[in-house]
Amino acid sequence: MKYMGSKRWMLRNGLGHTLDDASTRAKRFVDLFAGSGAVAAHVARKRAIPVVAYDLQKFSVVLTQAIVGRDKTLDDEKIWEEWKKRAARIRAHYKPPIADQVTKAFVEQCRQWSEAKKSLPITEAYGGHYFSPSQAVWIDALRKTLPLREPGRTVALAALIRAASESAASPGHTAQPFQSTRSGKKFLKEAWDRDVCERVKRSLRVISETHARTIGKARVGDANKAVSSLRIGDLVFIDPPYSCVHYSRFYHVLDTIARGKCGPVSGVGRYPEASERPRSRYSIKSESIDAFTNLLKIVSDKKATAIVTFPAHECSNGLSGKETIKIAKQFFSVKTKTVHSKFSTLGGTQIVDGKGNGRAARQHAKELILILSPKRTVRNSRIG
Ligand SMILES: C[S@@+](CC[C@H](N)C(=O)[O-])C[C@H]1O[C@@H](n2cnc3c(N)ncnc32)[C@H](O)[C@@H]1O
Repeated sequence: MKYMGSKRWMLRNGLGHTLDDASTRAKRFVDLFAGSGAVAAHVARKRAIPVVAYDLQKFSVVLTQAIVGRDKTLDDEKIWEEWKKRAARIRAHYKPPIADQVTKAFVEQCRQWSEAKKSLPITEAYGGHYFSPSQAVWIDALRKTLPLREPGRTVALAALIRAASESAASPGHTAQPFQSTRSGKKFLKEAWDRDVCERVKRSLRVISETHARTIGKARVGDANKAVSSLRIGDLVFIDPPYSCVHYSRFYHVLDTIARGKCGPVSGVGRYPEASERPRSRYSIKSESIDAFTNLLKIVSDKKATAIVTFPAHECSNGLSGKETIKIAKQFFSVKTKTVHSKFSTLGGTQIVDGKGNGRAARQHAKELILILSPKRTVRNSRIG
């Protein structure tokens, strides 16, 4: 699945080596902004130390926990066979509208049919928008019939989230679905034709095969609170948001699936109410510098070491590569590496070139890797 700001690409481009090297001396690895879970999973698979991860979004925690929370493979075929049977019994109660062609009238019919399904939260909120009614009913049915026992339950939910992300009728994230306009209809049809069950089955296989060497834990939590539980010997990974647009704007559909429920939605993007969407101080321009400074101060007080990644340029949340180095130097000895990365503009609204014009969703940019170690204390030696 694509995740905005994911370090998957950078893991093969400098970051992987840096983490491998720094984690040889660590007792624990703590990822404070887990996102897709790519970094936490990388370390958990390589090193026999517990990986602890945090994120404000529940779906991110599910994706991460599915891997860092296990030290064995699972029998994905058995899980899938039984799970699909349970879901099919629910699915059989519904006759979603189908058509060979996606027309404006058909989309309208799909939306009305879906909105009336009060006992199917994903269908009611997103059917006829991000998902065809048939896809949405399958997602609801699978969500309601997850395996009861852990770790199978979390692994199954992670597979469902990944499959939903791959199937959603939207460009890489879920800020706005494709519409039934002249140019949008073909994208809508292509996405609505995707076989959600096949994708769940495939993701379940991939996730089941992947596991940590030592059992760790992913939790929903605020990085600035999580740091209070750090200890000496922790290697902390810090990859904070760089955008003034909250992540929850782009990932509310996946978070709804993770939570299994959704209140009223509104707008073209079908956003749940603000109270259901996590807000981050790192995405508020007037607060991001304070939040980052406070975070690094506590990491330093706890005598942990840290790796920070941040785009080199000035970002729309008010932080920049230069600023992050300046803040880091207040508390740590800092080594800096620069790598080329693919930078997500989170919907094209980032300040990259200073003009704020519409841009491609991903751009090539430079990203900093900062390696932070405790400052050496200088002792005064007395000359006798
Ligand atoms: C740049 S992304 C991290 C990407 C991740 N390293 C990866 O490889 O996919 C930033 C993440 O921080 C999360 N986040 C934002 N504010 C947070 C906070 N205060 N505490 C914990 N997580 C937060 C967002 O939900 C988002 O998933």
